[in-house]
Amino acid sequence: MRTTIIIAAVGLALTSQVAWGVAPRNEPVQPIPAVAVTEPAKVELGKKLFFDPRLSKSGFISCNSCHNLSMGGTDNLKSSIGHNWQQGPINSPTVLNSSLNLAQFWDGRAADLKEQAGGPIANPGEMAFTHELAIGVLQSIPGYVAEFEAVFGQEVLDIDMVTDAIAAFEETLVTPHSPFDQWLLGDDDALNAQALAGYQLFKQSGCVACHNGPNLGGTSFQRMGVVEPYQSTADTIGRAAVTGKDADRFAFKVPTLRNVELTYPYFHDGEAATLEEAVDIMGRLQLGRVYSDEEIGQIVAFLKSLTGEQPRFELPILPPSSNDTPAPAPFG
Ligand code: HEC
Ligand code: HEC
Repeated sequence: MRTTIIIAAVGLALTSQVAWGVAPRNEPVQPIPAVAVTEPAKVELGKKLFFDPRLSKSGFISCNSCHNLSMGGTDNLKSSIGHNWQQGPINSPTVLNSSLNLAQFWDGRAADLKEQAGGPIANPGEMAFTHELAIGVLQSIPGYVAEFEAVFGQEVLDIDMVTDAIAAFEETLVTPHSPFDQWLLGDDDALNAQALAGYQLFKQSGCVACHNGPNLGGTSFQRMGVVEPYQSTADTIGRAAVTGKDADRFAFKVPTLRNVELTYPYFHDGEAATLEEAVDIMGRLQLGRVYSDEEIGQIVAFLKSLTGEQPRFELPILPPSSNDTPAPAPFG
């Protein structure tokens, strides 16, 4: 009887924690909730599409080429390589936890994941296809037609269904249970003294003003170079390209710091090769503060505690092309 009551009480405590998303510690950063998959068939289809290079003109580039889920959802390159080995204009952000961001892309030009997913397929510097041609390819693959019909209830495919499924898959790409989240949830031993000192410094010196919320970022657009200007190698004006406002020149969506240990190199131009360098630049340019090597080591130790459980799943096996599937054009 007694045990039952204790178990019930513990169960209740856990349920309410999950239900309200409230951490026992009152911090400006919240733990990432584990994902609840409500539409498994759509997620499975989206996973296939995410890994399918036939959505590109070359038949060689998939979403996973530049957002490699074996490498923190990035390509670990300064800027991505697109169709015909083209050098991309900007660093590829991670797709992990991207559903938690207020908008997509460095300048926020896509409102959500569904809107974003249509972009790269038709971008001449990325997958270099058109939506019509991509749909033509998928429609020629009987395995896909059957799967789309099972999920969306119709055999005539359109780009809306494709981006909807990809977005549903991306929403599952969250990384809960990092050491820092375990600490947030009350486990004092989850962080060592160095990482804890790093978090205190991160809060006290003001990093948290921009890197906050469950994603430690993704909640606002902020200028790069608040105290000192940043000399960028990338040709971009940032948020101003969307709003047309001069005040938004060189403002970017604050990137998430989740899994930042895996998503090097850093900044929109990929110019900072290491976390130490990125932290030093952030301190000086955003806060006017020069950290000692010891302090940088502490902040970096904290940032490394943000690496969560990476999404795990079976590699999708893609349905084969048919005799009617248009041939890829890798060198055109
Ligand atoms: C050739 C490399 C490349 C390919 C292929 C590619 N992406 Fe991207 N992706 C990028 C780059 C670079 C950006 C940043 C562009 C920008 O902000 O202007 C980006 C941005 C994103 C973002 C926004 C993340 C954020 O936090 O802002 C998401 C989500 C995303 N891509 C998903 C996808 C999906 C889904 C596909 C496949 C349909 C795909 N990408 C294909 C390189 C690529
Ligand atoms: C005024 C807002 C602001 C403050 C304060 C701030 N950041 Fe940033 N942070 C940004 C923005 C905006 C970017 C993206 C800049 C870019 O790519 O050009 C960024 C990028 C980063 C990156 C690179 C992430 C990536 O994936 O490329 C790291 C690491 C980082 N910040 C850590 C910190 C730390 C540590 C502090 C405190 C010393 C801090 N930031 C303070 C706004 C801020």
